[in-house]
Amino acid sequence: MPELPKPHVTVLGLGRMGAPIATAFLDAGYATTVWNRTAEKADALVARGAVRAVTVAEAVEAGPLVIAPLLDHDAVRQALGPATAALRGRTLVNLANSTPAHARELATWVDGLGACYLDGAMMALPQTVATPDGFFLYSGSEEAFSTYRRELEVMAPAHYFGADPGSAEIHDLALLGTGYAALTGFLHAAALLNSVGTTPDVFAPLAVRRAGDGLRGAGIRHRVPR
Ligand SMILES: NC(=O)c1ccc[n+]([C@@H]2O[C@H](COP(=O)([O-])OP(=O)(O)OC[C@H]3O[C@@H](n4cnc5c(N)ncnc54)[C@H](OP(=O)(O)O)[C@@H]3O)[C@@H](O)[C@H]2O)c1
Repeated sequence: MPELPKPHVTVLGLGRMGAPIATAFLDAGYATTVWNRTAEKADALVARGAVRAVTVAEAVEAGPLVIAPLLDHDAVRQALGPATAALRGRTLVNLANSTPAHARELATWVDGLGACYLDGAMMALPQTVATPDGFFLYSGSEEAFSTYRRELEVMAPAHYFGADPGSAEIHDLALLGTGYAALTGFLHAAALLNSVGTTPDVFAPLAVRRAGDGLRGAGIRHRVPR
C-alpha cells in the first residue's frame, strides 16, 4: 500500500525538548517549519533542512499541524497572541507543562478560534525523544489525535486519555506522583541498607520486583505499555 502523504509540521519553541522534536520530524522525512523567540536557536535545524519562520503567524500558516513544546501556559498564550487568525482550521498540540485548568482554558480559546486542540504531556527527556524510552500523554480533540497519530508517534509512543483537555495533565501528575513516591521510598531503603553494607545496585532489582509484586498483590493487573 502506498504511504500516505506526510503533512507539513510546524514546531514552535526550540528549547531542550523542542529542538529534538523538530529534529525527529526532519529525520522522519517531514517538511518542518520552525519558529523560536530567540531566532538563532533555529540555525542548526535550518542547516538540517528545516524552514525558518520569522513570525509565529508565518510558522502557523505553514501547515495543518502545529506542535508547541514551549515553556509554560503563559509562553503559549504570548507566542500565539499574534497568530490567532492563522490558527483557524489548524490543529494545535500544546506540549507545555500546564495545570488541567490552564489546558481547559486554552482548549476553549483555541476552539473559539476555529482550531482543534490537543493537550500533551511529555514523559520523556530531551535524549529520549523519538526513542522507545519516552512516551507522551494526550487529551482533547479525539479527531486530532486519530488524524495525526502517526505524526505524534514520531515524537514518542502516544497514549490518549479522552476528550477532557485537562486529562493528560492529570495523568502527568499521577505518573510523576507515582515515580517520586517510588524514588523517595527507594532512597529511604538505600539509607537503611547502608547501615548493613548493602549497596543500592544490589538492592535495586529486588526493589523493582517487590514493587511489581505489591501492585499485583493489590489486584492491579497491568500490561507494560510500549
Ligand atoms: N526538559 C525536560 O527534560 C522536559 C521533560 C518533560 C517535559 N518538559 C516540559 O516541556 C516544556 C519545554 O521544556 P524545555 O526543557 O524544552 O524548556 P526550555 O529549554 O527552557 O525551552 C523553553 C522554550 O519556550 C520558549 N519560550 C519561553 N517563554 C516564551 C515566551 N514568553 N514566548 C515565546 N517563547 C517562549 C523558549 O524560547 P527562547 O529560546 O527564546 O527562550 C524556548 O523555546 C516545559 O513545559 C517543560 O516542563 C521538559
